[in-house]
Formats: sequence, structure tokens, C-alpha cells
Amino acid sequence: MKVHSLGYLVVSSTDIPAWRTFGTEILGLMAGVRDDESELWLRADERCHRIVVEAGDTDEVSAIGWELRNDVAFENLLADLDEADVAYERVDELAARRGVEDLVRVVDPAGYVLEFYWGMQVAQSDFASPAGVSGFKTGDQGLGHVVLAAAPFEDSNRFYRRTLGFGLTDFADMGGTPGHFLHTNARHHSLALIGCDKSAWFVKGGLIHLMVEMKSIPDVGLALTRATEAGCEFFETLGQHANDRMFSFYLHSPAGFPIEIGAGAIEVDPETWTSVNIPFPDLWGHEVLGLPEQ
Ligand SMILES: [Fe+2]
Repeated sequence: MKVHSLGYLVVSSTDIPAWRTFGTEILGLMAGVRDDESELWLRADERCHRIVVEAGDTDEVSAIGWELRNDVAFENLLADLDEADVAYERVDELAARRGVEDLVRVVDPAGYVLEFYWGMQVAQSDFASPAGVSGFKTGDQGLGHVVLAAAPFEDSNRFYRRTLGFGLTDFADMGGTPGHFLHTNARHHSLALIGCDKSAWFVKGGLIHLMVEMKSIPDVGLALTRATEAGCEFFETLGQHANDRMFSFYLHSPAGFPIEIGAGAIEVDPETWTSVNIPFPDLWGHEVLGLPEQ
């Protein structure tokens, strides 16, 4: 695997205070050293951030950070991008702004801005969830997973599979729309590509969803209680996915896109896993409640 893990998500926001409240009080993430009206870092572990919220004119995902293991892996990736004729750019000061050693930006076939980087700073203080979450499952599995509106699907699939080296965990026909679930480490999927464009009704804020995995089922239950008591808007009820067996529910984030909060997913061995077709999304639950009221 060329890419080690999903590193971080960057979000443009018209309402940073809403993200601060949602991120810390509901999700149980911890505010990092950047925490003002222009930028908010949210931590899930020892890293300096896992979600970067930047003040902007829109509420949407603005970049997806993918981590490389070290400088050699990073240089090898750049060589692979050159060979595949994929353009990348170094943006002045961006690596320092993200707290990483080196970084390039690439626009994927669906229009998502990707930031490939290595050498991220760790925070000076230990992670301590302000909401009492026992912890987030990150480490070798990264932040979690993102699900993208990936039309044109074949181009996206080729880019992530052939150029970036993601493996196909499983796939499904989702009512005529293809869905491919891809791994780049032991996490069942760090990325899912859905063959729709960003105008689909379930795409809000540019993303289908972000998933963060907590360390235990009680963590998920307690998050469900916090969200219910705070009057949060749910996108899907509690349920369990058929493919990764994630026990989870979905909340609308302040950017509109849902965040899946889960625990208990199975892992894959990228060396031996063989792809399977799983033509049903859930074992139980996950009733879709719809988009938030505007
Ligand atoms: Fe998910």
C-alpha cells in the first residue's frame, strides 16, 4: 500500500463555534492548539489535529489528508503521480499550516482536493476527551473513513486503485449505483467510492460521510445519549453494517455531511484479503431519517 492511512479532514465553515460545540461536546474530540475565530483544530489522539475547521464562506469539506509513512514513501508517491500524469502542487506555507513536514495537493477525478503528506506533529499534551470518550481507534488505521461522491466512477476507481494502490475490500450494487469499499491498512475501508455525483440528495457539504471509530460500544451508546439530549439532527438511526460490521449511528455535522460514530468494526489483512460482493448494506437498523432542515 502506498498511502498509509486517512490522516485528517479539512472543513470550510461559516460557524466555527458550532463545530467547537459539536466536535468537543457531542463527538468528544479535543480542541487543539489552534482554536480561534479563524481556525479550529480537533484532536482524536496524540496527533496535533484530525479535523481542521477553517473559517470560510461555505460549509463543506475542503480537503482530505492522506498520510505517507515517511519521506521515502512520500517521494515514491510523487514519482508514481508523475508516471500517471497526475498533477500535484506544493502550496506555500501549507505544510506549516497543517503541522506536517511536507505536503502536496492533488485534485482527484471527482474534484476532491487531496493533501498527501508525511511527518505530522504530535501534540504536547495527552489526548483527553472533554466528553469522556475512552478513546478513538486511530493509530495504524488512521482517522477513520470517508465516503465520496466519486463520479466519474471508473476514473476515480482507477486513480485510487491503480495509482494510489488501495485494495478492494468489497463492493455492492446500490440500486444501480456502484459502491466500492477500499482499504490501505487493516481498517476495513478507509475510503468508499460511490458512483454518484455531488448533486445526489444524500450528498451534503460535498461528502457522503466521515466515520470516526470509538474504542468501545459504551462509547457509542454514550455519544448517542449526548446527541439525543442536545437535540442533534440524526441522519441514520443506530444499526450495524453488513460489510465492516460497524455498530454505528449518523449525525449531521455543522457542514451538513453526516458523521458516522461507530465501534467494533472487523479488520482486514491487506496481504491476504480477497474481494467479495456484499449486496446488502446493513444487518439491522440504520434507518435513514433524511437531510437536516435548512
Ligand atoms: Fe461508513
